[in-house]
Amino acid sequence: MDKLLVRGGKPLQGTVRISGSKNAALPVMAATLLTPGVHRLRNVPRLRDTHTFARVLELLGARVSFDANLLTVDTREVSSVEAPYELVKTMRASIYVLGPLLARFGRAKVSLPGGCAWGPRPVNLHLTGLRAMGAVLEIEHGYIVGRDARLKGATIGFDVVSVGATAQLMMAAVLAEGTTVLENVALEPDVTVLGEVLAGCGARIEGLGSRRLTIQGVTSLRPIDTAIIPDRIEAATFAAVAAMTGGTIRLENVVPDHFEAALRKLEEAGCALQRAADSVTVAGPARPRPLNVVTQPFPGFPTDMQAQMIAVCAVAEGTSVIEDTIYLDRFTHVPELARMGARIELRGNVAVVKGVDRLAGAQVMATDLRASACLVMAALAAQGETLVDRIYHLDRGYESLEQKLAALGADIQRIH
Ligand code: EPU
Repeated sequence: MDKLLVRGGKPLQGTVRISGSKNAALPVMAATLLTPGVHRLRNVPRLRDTHTFARVLELLGARVSFDANLLTVDTREVSSVEAPYELVKTMRASIYVLGPLLARFGRAKVSLPGGCAWGPRPVNLHLTGLRAMGAVLEIEHGYIVGRDARLKGATIGFDVVSVGATAQLMMAAVLAEGTTVLENVALEPDVTVLGEVLAGCGARIEGLGSRRLTIQGVTSLRPIDTAIIPDRIEAATFAAVAAMTGGTIRLENVVPDHFEAALRKLEEAGCALQRAADSVTVAGPARPRPLNVVTQPFPGFPTDMQAQMIAVCAVAEGTSVIEDTIYLDRFTHVPELARMGARIELRGNVAVVKGVDRLAGAQVMATDLRASACLVMAALAAQGETLVDRIYHLDRGYESLEQKLAALGADIQRIH
């Protein structure tokens, strides 16, 4: 299993080009199933998750090819409707194929995702919404099975704001008969952009960017030809690296509005920012100031940056309070950071972080994607050597992370 060896303590300097967004790419990849045709997705990050999703599409009968970051998906010959446990268990987002398969074929058999590294992550909103649209879904031997579904428009109000359920039902509704109204939808750019991509193919969606979507079903769509938006979490992670190492990093190919909540917190921590249309330069302070952070659905502070922000606060001058309201148990990085000398007390879903002058290198273990990013950041700022184990999690969501960090001056090496 690969590990990363990091010798920390250097401020990172330079320019980094941000890759396409994982969480925007995955639903668009699923949406290729809606329509038989040859779909072209540019700026798709080469990650374990996008490759896993490509594998799911191939098992359904699609022909998929990557040429650098151009992904071509030919869905003309899709014949199977089964997404197997072996793939879904490695990537929960595989559930995104459920809505498109039901919409196009009226049938689907998709493994029910289990828990994830930090606890339960239910998909009840996906199922309730699809059932409200007329799908008969049974849970059989660990699979969600839908037969003879003729999806019809419905009014569906989400009691929790969900990125996945919004994207799922949007994809189902574009080909359903009649009008679907989705209320209390997610506003994450990944979801809004999916709506724009579908609208570009002929879907009739009103209200994108607001909490209420009205979708008029159509009988067919054109194939997708689009460029995936920049990854706001990767961008915010590199911004946090500048904050934590006291370096200056210019982020290129970004949409600053997509990670404004994180940028504002980094400014509060003492970073100097220069924003331009598609770049941001972040100059970190000698030592970060402490922060209060509460994660919220977009446009609030993202849960996907909670771990990285705890890393920044671990070396801040004073005590920070970080609360995750989206995932109450997403704190597996905390005991690992403690091995590096961080002083963090967990009170339920609240981390109270007493900043220390310096973290110390240690052997640590990554437990999920963002927790891994947090440990690498801590390693970059720590004195001495850190060995981060189980970095396959990082490969799920950060394209060429160690090459990008090395280009900024980090002493980082992958050990096979
Ligand atoms: N929820 C339910 N029922 C559902 C769905 C969600 O109760 O049927 C709850 C969840 O338990 C959570 C909240 O709703 O408390 C929000 O979950 P959401 O559905 O928005 O999450 P998701 O769609 O499963 C996506 C990202 C995650 C990110 C969350 C929150 C993808 C592929 N994944 O997950 O990204 O943390 O939104 O922003 O887009 C990551 O990239 O590291 C990652 C985990």
